Amino acid sequence: MINNFQNWIAGEIKAIKSKNQHRVLTQIDSGMGPEIIIDGKRFIQFASNNYLGLTMNKKIINSSKKILESYGTGTGGSRLVTGTSNLHYELEKKIADFKSTKSSLVFSSGYLANIGTISAIMSPKDIIFSDELNHASLIDGARISKAKIVIYKHCDMKDLEKKLKLVSIRKNIRKMILTDSIFSMDGDIAPLDEIVFLSKKYNCITMIDEAHATGVLGKKGSGASEMFGVEKKVDICMGTLSKAVGSVGGYIAGSKKLIDFLKNKARTFIFDTSLPAPTLKASIDAIDIIQNENGPRKNLHKNILNLTKFLTEEKFDFYKNDTPIIPIIFGSEIKTLKFSKLIKESGIYIPAVRPPSVPKGLSRIRITLMANHTEKHIEKLKKVLKKIKKFN
Ligand SMILES: Cc1ncc(COP(=O)(O)O)c(C=O)c1O
Repeated sequence: MINNFQNWIAGEIKAIKSKNQHRVLTQIDSGMGPEIIIDGKRFIQFASNNYLGLTMNKKIINSSKKILESYGTGTGGSRLVTGTSNLHYELEKKIADFKSTKSSLVFSSGYLANIGTISAIMSPKDIIFSDELNHASLIDGARISKAKIVIYKHCDMKDLEKKLKLVSIRKNIRKMILTDSIFSMDGDIAPLDEIVFLSKKYNCITMIDEAHATGVLGKKGSGASEMFGVEKKVDICMGTLSKAVGSVGGYIAGSKKLIDFLKNKARTFIFDTSLPAPTLKASIDAIDIIQNENGPRKNLHKNILNLTKFLTEEKFDFYKNDTPIIPIIFGSEIKTLKFSKLIKESGIYIPAVRPPSVPKGLSRIRITLMANHTEKHIEKLKKVLKKIKKFN
């Protein structure tokens, strides 16, 4: 039996390798700044979602340290038992203010926020309209809920409306439109104004995932819902504390009733040990910085403009977005792996992204920019990209 099991695993791994889709972990022996240490060697990295560089912010580190000394390393319980501290309340109040909603709820991760929320609200008799490029956590949440899932073409509002029309006559079902606001692998932005319009027209619940937009888009950095001016029209706004906020955790922002409901029904909230205090403090301070200092966000957007101008001029096959996620498409897995390796040999770390993270034939290197990448870092990246282009 054990041998059969081990043989089965070996066969599965062989199959993954034969498709050039085998993944391994890269050990990083440093903090997550623009420069990192791998195997004793320094690399400039363009691969982190730490968009504002806040994971290494001295002020945040110092205040988290103080909290660590008084509150300790863990909470020893779920939110409904011993796991809710004053810092949870402070953070949830801060997020609600940041997102211009009445209330918010913090989960241990963005993934858990998504699967817990969707599965608490939607049931097998309901229908979820889901963008074809939505993040795995939205897909998994929809699957766990057992609702019928209708996939619409990526950001295609005509296709979404066509599909909404087909079911609009059915009564007594809940319908939800589910979308990333910035798509994690393509880096483009969902047309939230049109999505909200269709959602109201067809009486749907709107749920958006602001994982990559939190701290990045909008004048006060609260996300794409702020940028489109639809904060008050989105029913469920999810985000993470693990990307631009530089800490860890996920949140849902919405009405007081929604949050009360999730406290009672979201299984990933109820049956999960809560986040430790230093992490909560880091998120509180980071959101403070995002709200009150627009310097880092301005720098990030300056870096985005700088790199996309270069990629356009050099005619790279890339997705041009006004976001820090900039994918350069190579197509096959093997070609992407080759270029990622060449880039690494030049002292820059950008891993290859392959199926199942992206569709077959669209393997890519996914460049992510940070506010504290200097001009020198970006010039080096340009030089390396120009050099490897010759091998294409
Ligand atoms: C769009 C999107 N949603 C949700 C998540 C999950 O968030 P977390 O990493 O906080 O679990 C991610 C993370 O990769 C993401 O990219």
